Amino acid sequence: MSETHSATGVCIAGTGSYVPEKILTNDDLCKMVDTTDEWIVSRTGIKERRIAADDEPTSHMGAKAAERALEQAGMKAEEVQLIIVATITPDTPTPATACHIQQKLGAVNATAFDISAACSGFLYAMKLAKRLISDGAFENALIIAAEKLSSVTNWDDRATCVLFGDGSGAAVLRKSMPGEGEILATEMGSDGNLTHLLEIPGGGTACPITKENIDQRLNTLNMQGREVFKIAVNRMKEAAEAVIERAGLEADDIMCVLPHQANLRIIDAIADRLAVPNERVFVNLHKYGNTSAAAVAIALDEAHRTGAFKRGEHIVMVAFGAGLTWAAAAIRW
Ligand code: UT7
Repeated sequence: MSETHSATGVCIAGTGSYVPEKILTNDDLCKMVDTTDEWIVSRTGIKERRIAADDEPTSHMGAKAAERALEQAGMKAEEVQLIIVATITPDTPTPATACHIQQKLGAVNATAFDISAACSGFLYAMKLAKRLISDGAFENALIIAAEKLSSVTNWDDRATCVLFGDGSGAAVLRKSMPGEGEILATEMGSDGNLTHLLEIPGGGTACPITKENIDQRLNTLNMQGREVFKIAVNRMKEAAEAVIERAGLEADDIMCVLPHQANLRIIDAIADRLAVPNERVFVNLHKYGNTSAAAVAIALDEAHRTGAFKRGEHIVMVAFGAGLTWAAAAIRW
């Protein structure tokens, strides 16, 4: 499903992110499972990840990132009209984590709901919010991606526990004024035939929580990594190409590509196929691992705050995850 820029432009007025204090290094993991720093770094690029404390639910991290985005946008919480939270690790099955964050922020005038699109969720939220603003339904939106993946990780499975981490990112979207940036093109898609490749099989209505299910770790993330890898490269390349073309851009026009932070080999393969030089591709997975929906949101905030791109320059965000799902956005900053 694709979309190009509309009559009413929508810009990103502020970004924010938050990661918990506790660092879990590859050496720490070597004491927990049969792995090595060499294996993790050479296969993934990850060196360490953050782990949220017991009293830091997903909404806590989401609210922290949101506060920073609002501060940068110069907006008060009461002015927020819409909150969309992308997460696969909600505080509670219901109500939505977005409502918990609304309460923490004091965003009393907002409408708040969650979406579930795994690692692609932040860009799904961006597309939804952009459309709802450009259609005139809302003046602004706070989109947040927050994940506490440590709560759904099987810490005895070396194939997955070395990959994931916790964190959050947020962005404030609003109508753009003349001369400001604009979200130019968005793309998203999914393939429900491939649900089995990356899933938390238990905990929902298909496989409710029982003691036996928990003993089998059916409440944790399970991934067929090699299969997912191949599809991720192809789908992210296609999604990124689609938004670059629809925005009327060439690869040379892109100052910064912000890909999903799952694996450095995937990121390198995409940069290669898009013919974008590595120095224009933002990478922070060595610090945080794969934080699902939060990965591109944290990357956006860090890239923005460290000056990886400036006003008027073009960036491309692209993500891929369980579903399988994928999404991309081309933005003039
Ligand atoms: O965020 C959503 C999207 N997710 C992704 O895009 C992730 C995509 N997949 C990947 O990033 C990679 O497939 C992984 C990093 C998950 C795995 O890398 P791989 O190169 O595909 O390794 P593999 O699963 O094929 O495993 C290779 C070997 C196996 O041993 P044998 O069968 O060759 O003897 C594994 O048992 O590495 C072994 N292995 C490990 N060894 C040491 C698996 N995990 C570990 C480990 N430490 N942590």
